[in-house]
Amino acid sequence: MQPRVVVTRRIPEAALQRLEAAGVTVQLLGADAAPSREELIEAVRGAAGLVCLLTDRVDEAVLRSGEPTLRVVANVAVGVDNIDLDAARRQHVVVTNTPGVLDAATADLAILLLLAVRRRLLEGVELLRSGHWRGFALDGSLGTDLEGSTLGLVGYGRIARKVAARAGAFEVEVLHHARTPTGVPGYVSDLDELLERSDAVSLHVPLTPLTEGLLDARRIERIGPKGVLINTARGPVVDEDALCDALESRRLGGAGLDVFVGEPNVSRRLLDCPNVVATPHVGSATNETRAAMAELAVSAVLDVLAGRAPATEVTT
Ligand code: DGY
Repeated sequence: MQPRVVVTRRIPEAALQRLEAAGVTVQLLGADAAPSREELIEAVRGAAGLVCLLTDRVDEAVLRSGEPTLRVVANVAVGVDNIDLDAARRQHVVVTNTPGVLDAATADLAILLLLAVRRRLLEGVELLRSGHWRGFALDGSLGTDLEGSTLGLVGYGRIARKVAARAGAFEVEVLHHARTPTGVPGYVSDLDELLERSDAVSLHVPLTPLTEGLLDARRIERIGPKGVLINTARGPVVDEDALCDALESRRLGGAGLDVFVGEPNVSRRLLDCPNVVATPHVGSATNETRAAMAELAVSAVLDVLAGRAPATEVTT
């Protein structure tokens, strides 16, 4: 009998075809919307693999339902906070993600948000659209230079290093903080010190119990009234209420946000905050990157089903 692989949402056609060409029966659940929890639990029963997105919560109940046939869960994302890794380990289910292929796209978005906030892009667009622009003025729509500023990276994985490379091209001084010393110039062991020394701070840590709420009221305060916070990692790394408080009272200069607590329900208060540029979790949203992510996920599934070790297994 052909192994069945559940794919929770539409993924690029070429990746689906690769699965089918390899003799896999593909069960595509909600093409456009995330399947309900009940649908997911039902679908994985008897399945050999699951290809899922970060919007699918793959918890112990889902994994149990796949017992004993489920061998691999391939997340089409680099972050795996939607998957209960301990439960998967207990059940000997291999979990894979899509590292590497989305670094450039996500780093581009971090820089885009940084520039957009510092140059007050949305205000300018709105001024034109509203018909209120009265023409060039020497003191109109003044932003802040990027060149000569200091960018602090929290986390120093692949995406952060791509951001550092891009920031270098803008002649920005780059500092970074990670839990273990990187040996790279610009390393700052103390997170609070990094926040204080940076004009802008960009987050590049996975969401784990250790990083949830990492940017709390006290730390946001350290970035300061001229500072900017960029988040393309995961919403819950930042205390959103504290962020709103700081932005509303101008104790933080601005924020560029691609990720939110409780997506897709983004806090109205946050969106109404002054000097926030917000995008709907599109860090990896380019055709090339999404195709590469889907290919990686499918390769991992085929590897596991063929008894090979996938290159992208999540081991931590
Ligand atoms: C990821 O991969 O974790 C991003 O957040 C979505 O592409």
